[in-house]
Amino acid sequence: MTEVTLSIIKPDAVQRNLIGEILRRFESAGLKVVGGKLLRLSPERAQAFYAVHKERPFFAGLCTYMSSGPIFVSVLEGEGAIVKNREIMGATDPAKAAPGTIRKDCGTDVEANAVHGSDGSETAAAEIAFFFKPEEVFRSSK
Ligand code: RTP
Ligand code: MG
Repeated sequence: MTEVTLSIIKPDAVQRNLIGEILRRFESAGLKVVGGKLLRLSPERAQAFYAVHKERPFFAGLCTYMSSGPIFVSVLEGEGAIVKNREIMGATDPAKAAPGTIRKDCGTDVEANAVHGSDGSETAAAEIAFFFKPEEVFRSSK
């Protein structure tokens, strides 16, 4: 099934000039970039985006980090895009991520782990709507 998912290239990866490297990996795997922009989250917007994690011990640090600099948000489209994106990203902790994954190769630590990807179809729809107006997404199919 052709799906869309939200990807975020996080502040550490943008800072280290890894936008091109990371998008290349998505494109090489058959995912199409159908929306994209560079922006900076305010602390309040980061807290809203990560609201599901608000009881977790890492929440405050995560929101400070995610608002520390520009991020590149994109909408990726493809067959099984949600799972495919998460496979390409690798495990949350770069130290535990499989060889060849983005987090293994581009992540710094469990917080500054280079990328975010939606974890299901409902979260993908909500996360895409959080960042993009419908007219900013160019799906090849619906
Ligand atoms: P993401 O939502 O960013 O795609 O990552 P994920 O599903 O693999 O991980 P999740 O459990 O949803 O955690 C969200 C983000 O919080 C940061 N984190 N820090 N300090 C810690 O122990 C810790 N654990 C998670 C990471 O930036 C993680 O991606
Ligand atoms: Mg997550």
